[in-house]
Amino acid sequence: SFMQLPRPQVPLKSPEELERLKKAVGHNFLFKNLDEERYLEVLSAMTEKRIGEAGVALIVQGAVGDYFYVIEKGEFDVYKRKEPNVSTEEVLASGYGDHVATMFPGEYFGELALMYNAPRAATVVSKTPDCVFYALDRASFHRIVLQNAFHQRRMY
Ligand code: CMP
Repeated sequence: SFMQLPRPQVPLKSPEELERLKKAVGHNFLFKNLDEERYLEVLSAMTEKRIGEAGVALIVQGAVGDYFYVIEKGEFDVYKRKEPNVSTEEVLASGYGDHVATMFPGEYFGELALMYNAPRAATVVSKTPDCVFYALDRASFHRIVLQNAFHQRRMY
């Protein structure tokens, strides 16, 4: 039989914090098929982050992807350079490229690099001050969200 991998220790969240998180991530398609146990596991693994000012680049196109994000408060602009394999150095030196989307509370971003093990496909910048969002690390994203999608598929 398979060895059971130890689950990473995650900080416990207060009921209030869990409610806020559920409101923010509740409608997210990546999470909607999770059973209750895995859903709570995702929520516990998410850490709250804040960006105080507009204009801060949280993700830069071409970088290695480390986190997946869900917005609770504030808005983010997404910019994209069209050249393939553009480096973060080029992006930071000569511009973010075209504005392709704006992300609002309840929406998520940063899943592509984690799902496809690819460099960040776009640059994501805070549009408003006082942004509050939640980050899920790559390992937890794979362990909980992708494995779950895979399990569900194998049951067909
Ligand atoms: P990722 O490639 O990990 O990092 C940048 C994120 O921007 C990407 O995941 C998506 O979540 C998000 N995004 C939104 N619109 C686009 C777009 N048109 N092209 C690429 N990424 C986009």
